[in-house]
Amino acid sequence: MAFPIHRPRRLRSSEPLRRLVREARLAPCQLILPLFVCPGEGVRKDIGAMPGVAQLSIDNVVRECEQARSLGLGGVILFGIPEHKDELASEAYAHSGITQRAIRAIKQEISGLLVITDVCNCEYTSHGHCGFVKDGGVDNDTTLEWLGKTAVSHAEAGADIVAPSDMMDGRVAAIRAALDGAGHTNTPVLSYAAKYASAFYGPFREAAESAPQFGDRRGYQMDPANAREAMREIALDIEEGADMIMVKPAMPYLDVLSEARRRFDPPLGAYQVSGEFSMIMAAASNGWLDLDRTIIESLTSIRRAGADFILTYFAKCASRLLG
Ligand code: PBG
Repeated sequence: MAFPIHRPRRLRSSEPLRRLVREARLAPCQLILPLFVCPGEGVRKDIGAMPGVAQLSIDNVVRECEQARSLGLGGVILFGIPEHKDELASEAYAHSGITQRAIRAIKQEISGLLVITDVCNCEYTSHGHCGFVKDGGVDNDTTLEWLGKTAVSHAEAGADIVAPSDMMDGRVAAIRAALDGAGHTNTPVLSYAAKYASAFYGPFREAAESAPQFGDRRGYQMDPANAREAMREIALDIEEGADMIMVKPAMPYLDVLSEARRRFDPPLGAYQVSGEFSMIMAAASNGWLDLDRTIIESLTSIRRAGADFILTYFAKCASRLLG
C-alpha cells in the first residue's frame, strides 16, 4: 500500500475546497462596533493609541451607526463620556445623560440597528472607579442601585440590550429587577460575566477618560490567573437572569472562552478589547504584520474558541474585508 494513505492536504488544495470544509465562519452580523459618545457637535476627537477610533459627538455617532447598519453589523455598543463627572456618577443615570441622548438620536434616525449600552460608572465618576467609593473601596450594594437606575434610563431611551461591565456581585439580578419594575421586561441583559482586571484596557481608558485616579480595579475585576472562577461568575450571572454572557478580553483568554462554550448554552460573546486592537495596529503600522490578514485571523480564532459574537474595534474594517 502506498504511503501515506491519509493526506489532509487534499482538502487544502483550493479555495473552494477550503471554504467548503471551513469550521469557524465569520460574518458581519456577528460583529459589534464600540462607539465613544462625547458632548458637542461636529466633534471627532482621535484617540492616540487607537488609530481610526475617536470620541464622537452625537451627530457623528448617528452617522457611524448608519454605516454600521449598511455594512450589516450585528450592532453597536455605546460608551458615554459625560460633560461632568462627580462622586455619585450622576450622569450615568440622568434622563438627559450623554448616552441616553445618543440612544434617542440613533433610534430616531435609524431603524434595524441593535443598540447595546455599556452599563458602568467609571466614565461618570470623578475618581474613575466603577461605583460608589466608601472607605477607599467600591461599595457593592450602593453601586447596584446606580446600575439599576442606569439600565432603566437606557431602556427608557430605547436601548435594545443593556450590558453591565462593572463586576459588582449581584448586578444582573439587581438590573433585572429594576428593568422589570419599570416595565422593561423584554430588555435583555448581556453580562460581561467574566471580565478580568486586564492591562489590555489601557487605550480604552484614554478613549473613555475613565482611568482610576487611585488604586486599580483588582478589588472587583477578576484575577487574570483564574479560569475556574470565571465559570462560577458565569454560572451566577445566568442564575441571576443574564440572557447572554461575555468573556473579556478575548485573545489572552481563549481558554476561558472555550471552556465557557463547552459548559454554558446561552449566547456567548467575547470582547476584543482596546489593547488587542492597538497591538495589532501598532505592529501593522511598522510593517511587521499584514493588517487585513491579522484582523481576520484574530477574529476567526475568537469564533473558533466559541464566541457567537465579538465586540471589536475592527468591526467595520472586518466586514468590508468579508464583503
Ligand atoms: C468599563 C469598561 C472598560 C472596558 C469596557 N467597559 C474599561 C475598564 O473596565 O477599565 C474596556 C474595553 C476596552 O479596553 O476596549 N468598565
